[in-house]
Amino acid sequence: MRVFIVLGHRARLDPGFSLNDLPGSAGRIDVLCRCVNSAFCLSHDLRRDTELYLVLQDQVTLRFVGSRLRHLNPDERSTAALIQRALAAREQLAAEPALAAAGQGEVESTPGIYISHRGLREVLSEAQSRVEELILLHEAGLPLRQAELAADSGFVLSDHLEFLPGELELMVALPKLSLGPLSLHADHCIVIVHNELDLRFGSGACYNGRRWDM
Ligand SMILES: C[S@@+](CC[C@H](N)C(=O)[O-])C[C@H]1O[C@@H](n2cnc3c(N)ncnc32)[C@H](O)[C@@H]1O
Repeated sequence: MRVFIVLGHRARLDPGFSLNDLPGSAGRIDVLCRCVNSAFCLSHDLRRDTELYLVLQDQVTLRFVGSRLRHLNPDERSTAALIQRALAAREQLAAEPALAAAGQGEVESTPGIYISHRGLREVLSEAQSRVEELILLHEAGLPLRQAELAADSGFVLSDHLEFLPGELELMVALPKLSLGPLSLHADHCIVIVHNELDLRFGSGACYNGRRWDM
C-alpha cells in the first residue's frame, strides 16, 4: 500500500466555507483537493492501493481509502464538497461520542472518506504500522531516485507552507528525501512519487493490458 500524509496548516475545520473561495476563506483547501486528485486519479480509473491522510491544523484528520472511494471526480470543486461533508460529519462526531467509539475514533462521511479528531503524532504512528517505511519529502533531503524504496512506502508532505519546527521535531527520525533541485507543488510531488513507484514495482494494471518494459 502507498500512503501519503499532507499537512494542511490553514484549512478550515468547519464546513461553512464557500466552494467558490477554496484558496481564500477555506484556507487553501484547493491545494488539498489537488493532492487528493494526484493521490487517486488516473485517466479513467482510481488508484485503489493508496491511502491519503489530510491533517488539518494538527487537530482533524481526513483519511481517504482508495479501495473504498466512491464519488471522487477529478475536479477540485466536487472534491471540496466531499471534504465539506466530512467536516459536517465531524460535528456529528463531536456531538455523539458513541459514533467515535464505534468507528474507533473515525466516522465515514462518504464511502472511503473517514474523519477523526487526530493530529500529526497519531497519524504518523498509524501510518507507520501500515507501511514498511515512512519518508519525509523535503527539498533539502537526499535524492529519492538514488534511495532504496519499499513498495509499501509512506510520504509526508506540507501544503503551500513550510513544515513547522514542531512538525519537523516529530519527524526527526524519518529519512528525508528530495525529488529534485526545485521546490514543487505538493500535488506534483505526489504524482512524481507514484510514477517512481510504478516504474520500480509496477502499478497493477498497465495501459491497454500491455506489459511495461523499462
Ligand atoms: C509548495 S512546497 C512547500 C513550501 C515551500 N517549501 C516553500 O518554500 O515555501 C510543498 C511540499 O512539497 C514537498 N516538496 C516540494 N518540493 C520538493 C522537492 N524538490 N523534493 C521533495 N519534496 C518537495 C515538500 O513536502 C514541501 O513542503
